[in-house]
Amino acid sequence: MAMILWLLLPPFLFLSVSANTQTKVTDNPADELVAALNANRTAHKSSSLTDNPGLACIALQYIKAYQGDCDAVGGPDAKKPADSEFAETFAPNCGVDASTLSPITSRLLGCQSKYVQPPEAFSMLMKNEKSLEILYNKNHTEVGAAVTGTDGGAPFFWCVLFSSGKLNNSFVLEGGVAKISRPGCFSGANDKCSGADDSSRPGHVWLYVLTAFIAVGYAFGL
Ligand SMILES: *[C@@H]1O[C@H](CO)[C@@H](O)[C@H](O)[C@H]1NC(C)=O
Ligand SMILES: *[C@@H]1O[C@H](CO)[C@@H](O)[C@H](O)[C@H]1NC(C)=O
Ligand SMILES: *[C@@H]1O[C@H](CO)[C@@H](O)[C@H](O)[C@H]1NC(C)=O
Repeated sequence: MAMILWLLLPPFLFLSVSANTQTKVTDNPADELVAALNANRTAHKSSSLTDNPGLACIALQYIKAYQGDCDAVGGPDAKKPADSEFAETFAPNCGVDASTLSPITSRLLGCQSKYVQPPEAFSMLMKNEKSLEILYNKNHTEVGAAVTGTDGGAPFFWCVLFSSGKLNNSFVLEGGVAKISRPGCFSGANDKCSGADDSSRPGHVWLYVLTAFIAVGYAFGL
């Protein structure tokens, strides 16, 4: 049985939103977010990260664990998915071989009552020095991104997980195929997907940068 040990509790930061424009690259907002992250990384002379569908699917599961409760992401009532959920729920839901779960070294999480396009989500997630530090971390090898609304509407969650796992030996999909589930979109699976467009609604933005990049977030053992 896999045991997960959190070594460091992430700090929570509160930020606000801003707009930006970039060109559309795929038909999946999570893929577009990864493209934006990688474009920015390579412009900064960091390597491009592998978009790992297993990790990205786990990012979607991670979001769903909040059950649409933005307030639970950060602030005084901050919660995070229980450690055991990675091996017991997220991995099986995604068809990820639990023995290939690798350390998730950093994460970015945003929650909004309005759907924004991926380039805007990128700049929203980056509105913090710590975010850039995470983005440019040279230890990262892979990334996975996900976005979903809640019950077909607001709030919308964006989640980016980074790992320094060994390429193609981490978050391995059983049978090599990602288990696509709706609602929600995740990156890396060549899956056409649209984020719910609810842009007519004005609303609050909650953005939390969660990081455990100083130490490995958790470790798996037997
Ligand atoms: C990378 O993203 C940051 C934060 O949005 C921005 O300030 C910077 O200009 C971007 N760099 C490039 C090369 O696009
Ligand atoms: C990269 O990993 C090494 C070895 O684990 C660690 O000492 C270093 O602090 C890490 N660098 C960053 C920027 O996280
Ligand atoms: C990793 O991926 C490369 C390129 O797709 C492949 O040649 C190699 O066999 C893979 N390694 C493992 C351990 O699966």
